[in-house]
Amino acid sequence: AIERTLSIIKPDAVAKNVIGEIISRFEKAGLCIAALKMMKLTRQQAEAFYGVHRDKPFFDDLVEYMISGPVVVQVLEGENAIAKNRELMGATNPKEAAPGTIRADFADSIDANAVHGSDSPETAAQEIAFFFKDDEIFPRFD
Ligand code: CMP
Repeated sequence: AIERTLSIIKPDAVAKNVIGEIISRFEKAGLCIAALKMMKLTRQQAEAFYGVHRDKPFFDDLVEYMISGPVVVQVLEGENAIAKNRELMGATNPKEAAPGTIRADFADSIDANAVHGSDSPETAAQEIAFFFKDDEIFPRFD
């Protein structure tokens, strides 16, 4: 089925000047950009976005890192978009990410791991609504 997922190009990847290379991987895999913006998250936004991780030991470092520089937030749309994006990203820890994945090629550490992607249809819907109004999203498969 055609799905939507939320993708974030994180501060380390923006700083490395690989926004275009990462987006190109999505497009070459058949995913379309249905919404996109560059922004610097506030601490409040980062804490709310990663609210499910509030009690984890890595939460404070994750929030500090996510507000350390601008990010690019996108809605990716396409067949099986949630799983396809996760395949393209590779494992959360770049040391475990398969060769040729975005994290294997561009990530530095488990926090500075280049990209975020929604992990289920429920979180995708929540995460998309967190960043985009309905009229900021453009269906690519009608
Ligand atoms: P992301 O997919 O953005 O979702 C939560 C983030 O927490 C994750 O990517 C990692 O960047 C970061 N993180 C840091 N430490 C861990 C950990 N031990 N397990 C999972 N995620 C972690």
